[in-house]
Amino acid sequence: MTEPKIKAIRGTRDLLPPETALWNFVEAAVRDVFRVYNFQEIRTPIFESTELFARGVGEETDIVAKEMYTWVDRGRAESDKGQSLTLRPENTAGVVRAYIEHKLWERGLNKLYYIGPQFRRERPQKGRYRQFYQIGAEMIGPATAGSESPARDAEILELLATLLDRLGIKGWTLQLNSIGCADDRAKYNEALRQALDPVKDKMCEDCQRRAATNPLRVFDCKVPEDQPIIEKLPRISQYLDEPCRQHFAAVKDILKSVGVAFQENDRLVRGLDYYTRTAFEFTHGALGAQNAILGGGRYDGLSESLGGPPAPGIGFAIGEDRLVLALQESAGAVQSKPDVYIAPLGHGMDAHAAQLARALRHHDIVVELGDENFRMKKSLETGSKLGARFALIVGENEIRSGLFALKNLETGEQISVPRAELAAKIIQKP
Ligand code: HAM
Repeated sequence: MTEPKIKAIRGTRDLLPPETALWNFVEAAVRDVFRVYNFQEIRTPIFESTELFARGVGEETDIVAKEMYTWVDRGRAESDKGQSLTLRPENTAGVVRAYIEHKLWERGLNKLYYIGPQFRRERPQKGRYRQFYQIGAEMIGPATAGSESPARDAEILELLATLLDRLGIKGWTLQLNSIGCADDRAKYNEALRQALDPVKDKMCEDCQRRAATNPLRVFDCKVPEDQPIIEKLPRISQYLDEPCRQHFAAVKDILKSVGVAFQENDRLVRGLDYYTRTAFEFTHGALGAQNAILGGGRYDGLSESLGGPPAPGIGFAIGEDRLVLALQESAGAVQSKPDVYIAPLGHGMDAHAAQLARALRHHDIVVELGDENFRMKKSLETGSKLGARFALIVGENEIRSGLFALKNLETGEQISVPRAELAAKIIQKP
């Protein structure tokens, strides 16, 4: 066969069965955990105004400066002609925009989750795609609703530990830091600027720019030659004020009392500008270079920087692609197989088979329907190949007598079952 001319775009991919069964398993499990923690789903658009991300995530971040899919809308109406739009690179800014637009503060503390695609023009590799999927959550509301409390941070982190454990993901590490409030960061940025001044000429072009505009972002640098310089820079932990220190201490105390293990890492500053105070990542050894399975933190000033009222918040996003990769490393694939393969034998039997399939599916039995033009041998082979537990033969004799041949495809045993008892026999576990 010749190579197809039209292929999926680099960095995007088709998710095919049986892998999609694993994705569905993950999504069902996380929805279940969110329900127990009283989170509700929010769905925001996949594209937003470019300004939202520029102001929310930050002009100087790699995401905004290099990785967004942005275009100018042609628009029909005068009002939207020439508007700059962007495929969302992340979902926190969109959720906070919706919080402001729908005055969600009137509901007190909002506990929202989302599952959906995000888009970043990164160099594709294992665990890094240009269209990837995030499972995320945000807790946001007025401070009077308790949104600023360290108890919220600890609740989010404990939820994540529960989620990963329930999915059977072993060997994760929680890396935890506090990057302080805006004042702390202003002081820290100044200290970084001073420390970078004598050495910045030896650094990459991006870092030279960052040193002038937003020194914290030098920590996003991946250039190996710059790392020894970055390693010697001052640490944020030395610049936290007393309230931020106490907030961080309270988060750690609760985590210890609920038994969630963590590693303090004062190099963890995260690649988005909206973070304040608690910042975290969960890493997983099996993922190689792209080892962050999820990341998140507090963003107490984000609502205000988007023109909304003060609304402290905290959230996270799991990279679903990476979560599935980690699951494939630690467990076998989850595959959905039919309970029964119905084999109509001979002319006119398709209709009878369809009737039976309809009745069995009402009992939540997974049915694969054959074809009256198949011979018996082909039907049984097809059923076995699909991994069906049973084959149900539907021929003229069966229809006349009301007794159906039910063949166990694993053991080869065949029994005769009255129509009314078929569902019970198929559901019965071996
Ligand atoms: P982030 O660290 O940029 O944070 O992304 C979160 C997670 O998404 C990463 O840890 C990673 O697992 C996954 N991810 C990111 N980029 C890619 C990619 N190109 N391919 C595959 N997976 C990727 C955020 O997006 C924040 N909005 C999280 C947050 C929510 N903070 C507070 N609330």
